[in-house]
Amino acid sequence: MSKPLSRTGSAALAVLVALSGLSVAASGAAAAPTGRPSPGGQSAGDSLFPAAGNTGYDVLHYGIRLRYARSTGRVSATTAVTARATHPLSRFSLDLQGLHVAKVFVDGRAGRFSRHDDKLVVTPARPVSGRFTATVRYGGKPVTHIDPDGTQEGWIPTSDGGATVVAEPLGAMTWFPDNNTPRDKATFDARIDVPSALAVAGNGDLVSRRRHGSRTTWHWSQRHQMATYLAMISMGRYRVYRSTMRSVTGRHLPVWSFVARKYGSLAPARALVPRVVRFEERRFGPYPFTSTGIVVQDLGVGYALETQNRPTFDGPPSVLGLVHELAHQWYGDSVTLRRWTDIWLHEGFASYAEDLWTAAHGGPSTAAAFRARYRAHPASSSLWDQAPARFRDPALLFSSAAYVRGGMTLQVLRERVGTPAFFTILRRWAARHRDGNGTTGQFRRLAEQVSGQDLGALFHDWLYVPARPDGY
Ligand code: TRP
Ligand code: ZN
Repeated sequence: MSKPLSRTGSAALAVLVALSGLSVAASGAAAAPTGRPSPGGQSAGDSLFPAAGNTGYDVLHYGIRLRYARSTGRVSATTAVTARATHPLSRFSLDLQGLHVAKVFVDGRAGRFSRHDDKLVVTPARPVSGRFTATVRYGGKPVTHIDPDGTQEGWIPTSDGGATVVAEPLGAMTWFPDNNTPRDKATFDARIDVPSALAVAGNGDLVSRRRHGSRTTWHWSQRHQMATYLAMISMGRYRVYRSTMRSVTGRHLPVWSFVARKYGSLAPARALVPRVVRFEERRFGPYPFTSTGIVVQDLGVGYALETQNRPTFDGPPSVLGLVHELAHQWYGDSVTLRRWTDIWLHEGFASYAEDLWTAAHGGPSTAAAFRARYRAHPASSSLWDQAPARFRDPALLFSSAAYVRGGMTLQVLRERVGTPAFFTILRRWAARHRDGNGTTGQFRRLAEQVSGQDLGALFHDWLYVPARPDGY
């Protein structure tokens, strides 16, 4: 569910849009709920990833049941996608990379389906309108997705015989059929059946852990809206730790952490989780979810990911690594971008959180950190080659323009509007778009509203021009 999807329903328009470098604005006029059934579109219209996502429906819930065979690395799975059609659909698509599809049912009736590229195209026995459920039975050995920058994501097999999903931006389609766009957030249930020697981490709350013979089924439930790239399962030979923490507002939050055995107990890192969550609550507002924790595994991907509720780390996390991934729970997970070119709304904010932590723990102030970076990167530095909110190359999604320049933008904003207004903006951004999406334009308008200032030039110079802003 979440904000309405764009209802263009036209792949041709999406391609046009991708070529022009613009992104699809949600069209105001929704297609009439009645009328002749037509196919859904096969692109969500993102300029960086035009092949990803689909239109014609809005996913409400994913119900994933997956059985993992440790000896072969294969899965057999059923995912039930409950969605609301935005117009009567004669046909619709889901994203799925690799895996073998055995059957598709729509509202209980077998449907026809075909595969091409990373699309599973479903033709229901009768057109669907309103709420419907597509149930996909599938299996095989999941593939790892390779990003434009060459990094691995999606399904990652691990040396302990398990596998972990880290799926930003597109890897979710390597383990379940989905509408693979951050615009279409949904709730999730994941029931994962593994040999009992493996433990299973997931998002949200653990509903049950049931042993049957030599195997155990872990049921994780995510009641908050979640983008597909943040959905995670991690199966491994873990030490599992459960405790409870008190949030700043007095809520009791379960803390579930999963630490690969080779790393010992990681007690210091685990003890930091409640401290970091409370530190960030005091600055960003109430923790947006119902549980927290960390997953630490030897993934070999070279990065961590802010998987919802429970960030996943490739090896023992650093203090700033924890600060960064937990900050994403507010900025990235609860408030999610609508288009990938707005990635600075995630990475700039999480990087700025690192500076806030450093400043509060004996390090330089955020102002001093800003000045040092500004000086360290003269106009000729490649840091300035990319405009954070306007880059065109998907291989640069995780470049320093998003992280460093994005974070610097927030310090510039803070100095312009003053510290109290700045934190009001951060908190209001998290509150207003909680469980939803946001754009750079909406953030700018909020900052202008709170500060009463015209911030057009500031946002333009820092986010939309591939050059070093002068005069700082
Ligand atoms: N979003 C992650 C973080 O900042 C980083 C990340 C995800 C990443 N996927 C990636 C970095 C691929 C490089 C390549 O914590
Ligand atoms: Zn990040």
